[in-house]
Amino acid sequence: MRRDATPRRYLMCPPVHFKVTYSINPWMDPTKPVDLPLALAQWEDLRDRYRSLGHTVEELAPDPALPDMVYAANGATVIDDRVLIARFAYAERAAEAEAHADWFAAHGFPEIHRASHINEGEGDFAVTATYVLAGRGFRSSPLSHDEAQEFFGRPVIGLDLVDPRYYHLDTALCVLDGDEVMYYPPAFSPGSRAVLRRLFPDALLATDEDAAALGLNAVSDGRHVLLPQAAVGLFTPLRERGFEPIGVDLGELLKGGGSVKCVTQELRPA
Ligand code: ARG
Repeated sequence: MRRDATPRRYLMCPPVHFKVTYSINPWMDPTKPVDLPLALAQWEDLRDRYRSLGHTVEELAPDPALPDMVYAANGATVIDDRVLIARFAYAERAAEAEAHADWFAAHGFPEIHRASHINEGEGDFAVTATYVLAGRGFRSSPLSHDEAQEFFGRPVIGLDLVDPRYYHLDTALCVLDGDEVMYYPPAFSPGSRAVLRRLFPDALLATDEDAAALGLNAVSDGRHVLLPQAAVGLFTPLRERGFEPIGVDLGELLKGGGSVKCVTQELRPA
C-alpha cells in the first residue's frame, strides 16, 4: 500500500527552561539530572526533521516559570482551525493554558474556547478521520469529552486509562492515518479495549517493551512516523503497513514523561 504524506503545521516550544523539579507522573524523578543542552539539541533535531519533511513548525515562546512547557501538545487541541484551550489538572502547569491562548489569539485563530473542564489538550485527545478519541482516568475529566464533542462537532469516544505509566492517551495510542491507529491494549480498561477492537479491528498493537519506550508517543504525517528510536519492535510492522518509521532520540525529554507526540501539537486546518 502506497502511503502519502500530507503537509502539516505543528506548534512546538523549545525546552530552554526544561527541568524536572516536581513529579506529576511516574516517569518524573526530580533527583535525576537533566542535560539541558542535550535536551535542546534533541528537540531541535526533531523540529528540523519536521521541516525537512516539508512541514511547518511554529514556535511558542518558553516561560522560565513553566518547566513542562516543552510538552506543547498538552496546551490545546485544534481541529478545523477551532481551538479548544487546555485546562490543566495540576497547578504546576495551569499557566501554560494562557500562554497557548495568547499564541492562538496573536496568530489570528477566530474560534478560541477556554475549556470549562479539565483537559490536557492532545495529551488526551487524538483525532482520527471519524472520531476524537479521548482519554480519561488520570488527567482529563470525562466532562471535557462532552465539551469537546459540542465544540468540534465530532463524535468523541471516551477511553479509560488504567496504568499510571500511560497517564495520557498519547502515551498509549497513536493515530497513523485516517482511521488507522496503533495502541497498547493493557493501558486501557477491558471495556475500552473492546471499544478499540470494535472501532479499529486492524490496529497495530504494541508490545510491553515498545510501549515502555514510549513508542506510541509518535507523530505521523500519513507516511512518515516519527517515534522514539528505542521502540524497535514497531519499525517492522509499520513498514509492513507501508509507513516509513523514523526513529528519534528524545531521551532527555523522556525524563519528564514525554516524547515525540507530547512535544508536538498539530494545528489542523479547516
Ligand atoms: N511532565 C509532563 C506532565 O506530566 C509531561 C507531559 C507529557 N505530554 C504528553 N502529551 N503526554 O504533564
